[in-house]
This record gives sequence, C-alpha cells and structure tokens, in this order.
Amino acid sequence: MGGGIKVKKRHTSYGDEGFSKFIKMAFQRNLGFDKKDFDKPIIGICNTYSEVNRCHSHVQPMVQAIKSGVLMAGGIPLEFPTISIGEMFTSPTTMLYRNLVAMDTEEMISAQPIDGVVLIGGCDKMAPAQLMGAASANKPAILFTGGPMENGEYNGTTLGACSDCRYFWQEYKAGQVSEEEINNINSQLAPTSGHCMVMGSASTISTCAEAMGMMLPGAAAAPATVNERMRLAKETGKSIVNLVEKNIRPSQILTKEAFDNGIRALMAVGGSSNTVIHLIAIARRLGINLNLERFNKLSETTPFLANLRPAGEYQMQDFYHAGGVQTLLKEIFSLLNLDEMTVTGSALRENLKDVEVNPVYRHIIKPIDKPIHKYGGIKVLYGNLSPQGSIIKPKAIIDQNLLKHKGKAVVFKSINEMESRINDPNLDVDKESVLVLQNAGPVGAPGMPEAGMIPIPEKLLKKGIRDMVRISDCRMSGTAFGTVVLHVAPEAAVGGVIGLVKDGDIIELDIDKGQLNVLITEKELESRKDRFIPPNFNDFDRGYPLLYRKHVLQADQGCDFDFLLPPPSKIKGT
Ligand code: FES
Repeated sequence: MGGGIKVKKRHTSYGDEGFSKFIKMAFQRNLGFDKKDFDKPIIGICNTYSEVNRCHSHVQPMVQAIKSGVLMAGGIPLEFPTISIGEMFTSPTTMLYRNLVAMDTEEMISAQPIDGVVLIGGCDKMAPAQLMGAASANKPAILFTGGPMENGEYNGTTLGACSDCRYFWQEYKAGQVSEEEINNINSQLAPTSGHCMVMGSASTISTCAEAMGMMLPGAAAAPATVNERMRLAKETGKSIVNLVEKNIRPSQILTKEAFDNGIRALMAVGGSSNTVIHLIAIARRLGINLNLERFNKLSETTPFLANLRPAGEYQMQDFYHAGGVQTLLKEIFSLLNLDEMTVTGSALRENLKDVEVNPVYRHIIKPIDKPIHKYGGIKVLYGNLSPQGSIIKPKAIIDQNLLKHKGKAVVFKSINEMESRINDPNLDVDKESVLVLQNAGPVGAPGMPEAGMIPIPEKLLKKGIRDMVRISDCRMSGTAFGTVVLHVAPEAAVGGVIGLVKDGDIIELDIDKGQLNVLITEKELESRKDRFIPPNFNDFDRGYPLLYRKHVLQADQGCDFDFLLPPPSKIKGT
C-alpha cells in the first residue's frame, strides 16, 4: 500500500518510546507477527460477540470475513472486545448503558495501538454507542452489523420482531388470542439470527449510518443469513485499510450535511423515534449542535417512501430485495448532500451513480412523486407540556381521530405505579382519557426505558379500544405503535411540566400544529412549579447508575453525558 499512514499509534507509556515499541513487539509475537508486520496498518475489530446479546451471537463468521478482507488489503486485523448489550437481556434498560458502551468503545479505540477500526454493531443501542465512541476517538472507522433477521411466519401471516410481540400480546390480553396460539406465535417471532427485522431502532440506525456514509453501500438491509452479508463483511475489511491509507476519519464523514442525509433517510423510512436521540448524541460528539428543529424542518420536506413495518407492511428482508438503502437514497437523490465523503473513500454521489430502481419492488419503496405520505415519519411537538420538545410518530397512529385530541389526564407517577394500576378495574379511565407517565425519563427512571407505549387498560381492550393518547418522558421501542408522545423535555424528575400534571387536567394534542399543552392557567402552572420538590431517589446510591443520573443530558440534547461533549467553544449550530 502507498500513501503513508498518518494515524499515530499510541504505546503504553514507560517514559522511553523506543522501549515501549520493543516490549510491545516482544509481546505480539505470540500472534505470529514478526518485525516487518509492524509497519502494516493495524486494524482493530471491535467484536461485540455475546451469547447474552442474542442479536450479536452469530457474528463470529462475519468477523472472520472482515479479518480476511483486512489481510487481503495488506493490513493486520486484531480483534478486541467491548461491552455488548441486548435489548431483552439488560435490566432495567439498554439506554442506561448506551453511554457506557460509547465510553468503552472510544477509550479502547484511542488507547490501543490501532490505526483504524471496524465496529460490529447490531442490537438497538450498539451502533449508536459505537458511532458516538468512534466519533470522539476519530480514527478511521467503519460500522458493520450482524444484519436483520429473516421474516417470521405464523399461519400464513408474516411476523416481525418486535411489532408483533406487542400486537399479539395486546390481542392475548384482550382475549382474542388463546394461550396455545400465543405460545406458537412466540416460537416464530425471532426465527433466525440477526437483529429485529422491522424498521425498528436497530434497522433505523443502520439505515441512517449507511446514508451518512459510515457503512458500506448495502450493509444496512442485507439479512443476517444471506451470502451477501459475508461478502460485505470482507469488503468492509478491505475498505477500512483503504480508509486508513487515505486517512479518512469520522469527522470528515459525519459532517453537518451528512447528518441531514441521515435524517432524510430516517424520515423516508418512517424509522424509530429513538434515532432522533442517537443522531443528536453522535453529532454533538463532533461539535455539531443538531437540534429537534432540524428534524422538524427536514421532515416537512422529505416524503415518506418505504412501506415498512411498524408504519407499513413489509420488513427488512423485503427492503433488501427492493435494493435497500441505496435504492431509497437514489429515490431521494435530489434532496441529498451528494458531495459528502463515505467509507468507500468516495462521495455519496459516486456510490449512487450506478444504482437503478427496480420497478418490480415499487410496492416496497415508493417513487418520490407518489409517496406514501408527503412528509416524513417523525413530528416534533412543543407547547407548555414539552417546552424543549417531544416526539410523535404520526404514521404509527392507529386511531386517526387522535391526531387532534383533548382529554382528561390519568396520571401515573412511575413505571411501577403504572404497572400496578393500569389494569385496575376501578381505574377512572375511558377511551377519551390521556394516559400520562411521569418520572420515566433519563434522570427519573433512570435511563429512559421503552415504556412509552403505555398498555391500553384491559377493560378498554375488551371493549375493542386499541389506541389512546399516551404521553411520557421515556421512549418506546422503534417496533412499537400507537398515538404515543415520547421524550418529553424537560422530564418530570428535573421539574418539567409533565411532572406537574394532575389527574383530571385537560390535555390537548394537535399534531398538525405540533402542539402539546396542558390547559391550565399560567398562574396555576407557575404555582405548581414553585411547589415542585425534586424526587428523593433511593434506588441507586453508588456506581455507574449514580454517575449516569448526575451527568445525563435531556432527550432533546441526546442523553449523552455532559462531560463527554466537546467544550462549548467547539460546538457549532446547524
Ligand atoms: Fe436486538 Fe431487537 S432485540 S434489535
């Protein structure tokens, strides 16, 4: 390889750099390297294989393929582990640990003598955390994931994790699905290796990463099980050596314009609301002050094209056959910043040059002039209930009458209280009520769990009600659905108005106008603010959760830790 590597390798410090190199060489000989190998680029493979994180339990053959690609391109691949967290296996919620993964990733990339890195992402919080860490470490990096699962099937119906987990569980509770059926469905919900195969959080962040240039073209949608994913793994190995050779770093790829491309992709696929928080967090690591207003602005000018669940009908396997992210980007070509650098070493324009839209799959990726909806899939709401913003996915709403709604608040002070009372036959609730969940935000919960899709009370389910307005300061899974307002900021635990709402207050939601308000007088609101007493937390008094609670930022700022951001003088607006 030519070009010269400009990334300076770090060595363990002994106060004598020559000795540091000498001792390192002695200790690396157990891997079979000799002196001449140390001049080759060292590529770290951040391997997040884990049997506990089932979405990463199949990645070992892909890691081997990446290593082959690195060797073929003249580099030396070295695997190293970092924390690996899976959605269904991490208590109380993976979001509590996203920043820990990001810190682990950043520090291991920075501290170790590697010139570039391939990050093995997959499950929801992994890729965002890895991109946050890689952005701060700023060594050449490519994201690769284990890919989505194949479609599930039950009785002739396609199943998707985990939209159908929620849908069928709701039907089971409503008495519409038997015990035997729900068990049979359970066995088919996650039928192969890979991450969730609807356009949930994992698929959405991959889609955005590919659109922003941090994954190879095609790498987001190829299912975990297809040969193409192995080919992409090998290509990723070759490409990272090329990136190191050209010294192309995340800060040159993840520009303000690249984030706009990512947001356009998010809107065009109607992706997960979690991605809003993650993109803000990644951008701010690079000193880009991405804000909710930017999402609103781009949503208003990006058509919703991908007919993918939970907002549409198809899943990632179908999206892959339709051409995946590259075809989607070709369709919104005119809206993109095409001169942005990508991990191929070429600009996005070059990558998309030969992409052709296959008309056979127009039912999956709609043409830009015949979109599913004129606007993107996420709307930001303001108003006195969420002065710093909140999020709703209008396309995930089941009951369209709720797009504009006024109803009496039924308030739950915590997730535990909500769980214990929601199905109480005496709960004063009807289909017009607005369910409000407090103290479930980044500080309050802590970690902002995916409890925002508050269950419909069983007594209403049995009357046929399947959607209600629900409001919280927490998140919901990207696979979830309903009239669900999320990420209310500021959250209840830090004195946000959501925490001041009382049973019986009238709440007004107007999605077209982007407004969420509690209809009480200004005087009453001020009086409640004056009487606010911060919660006396007694759940975590030491360790990482305590650190999290002390330093986590609000949802509109990406829920990163305040001490991980660049200094204020280095943050630019968008
Ligand atoms: Fe890992 Fe859904 S559980 S992506």
